[in-house]
Amino acid sequence: MKIGFFDSGIGGITVLYDTLKVLPNEDYIYYADTLNVPYGPKPKDEVKKYIFSAIDFIIKQEVKAVVIACNTATSVAIEELRNKYSIPIVGMEPAIKPAVEKDRDANKRVLVTATALTLKEEKLHNLIAKLDNEHVVDLLPLPGLVQFSEKLEFNEEIVLPYLKEQLSKYDFNNYETIVLGCTHFSYFKDMFRKLALSHIKVIDGNIGTANNLKRILKEMNSLNEGNGSITFYNSGFKIQDKAGLDKYNRLFKRLDTINE
Ligand code: DGL
Repeated sequence: MKIGFFDSGIGGITVLYDTLKVLPNEDYIYYADTLNVPYGPKPKDEVKKYIFSAIDFIIKQEVKAVVIACNTATSVAIEELRNKYSIPIVGMEPAIKPAVEKDRDANKRVLVTATALTLKEEKLHNLIAKLDNEHVVDLLPLPGLVQFSEKLEFNEEIVLPYLKEQLSKYDFNNYETIVLGCTHFSYFKDMFRKLALSHIKVIDGNIGTANNLKRILKEMNSLNEGNGSITFYNSGFKIQDKAGLDKYNRLFKRLDTINE
């Protein structure tokens, strides 16, 4: 059986990319809700409807687990999804825990970037209340990065000025970590690194989610059945044309250049 991956758009590919490193012998479905992306600026109830209709579709493809490769969808719907479906539903969480707890320099702050909806949600505020006793976490929405990546715009000349302007209000001498709390943002990890000072760590939750999925499949005795194939869907339509598939190849290549 396959593993389903879901995101509002192409962001979840950054999670699938890391998952393929730890689970290369599985087969995957990748579902992008291209008709409704972006989720970040939309009201919660509207986004929830999109999520449930997508996950219903994915479950009908007979998958053994679903990864919600989208922080926004995880924050608005993960509990309800787990109540509704009996197979494992693996979510994303902004990597605040390692940023705040692991070897943090006591004087340094943590910048958490995500979509407006994720930053508004109770789930994130509960997490911060639990971990951030010293009030070192700052929050920044970056909707422009979702737009750029959906247009496959990874040209530094276009993206860097936006990111530079957004980050200009922070003095990075006072920071230690930038958390990428939206899966679309991982396409720009190299640009974050370029703009922040060299001591700044730029982290996302992707590999944590991949390892979590692996652990769950292992516990279910359900590992290693396939050969790393991926079937792509755009809002319920299977992608079979060359242009549609080429788009995903370009995204994997973009991630190769960041990760090499
Ligand atoms: N990729 C998504 C996330 O991780 C959401 C981006 C959007 O649709 O606004 O939050």
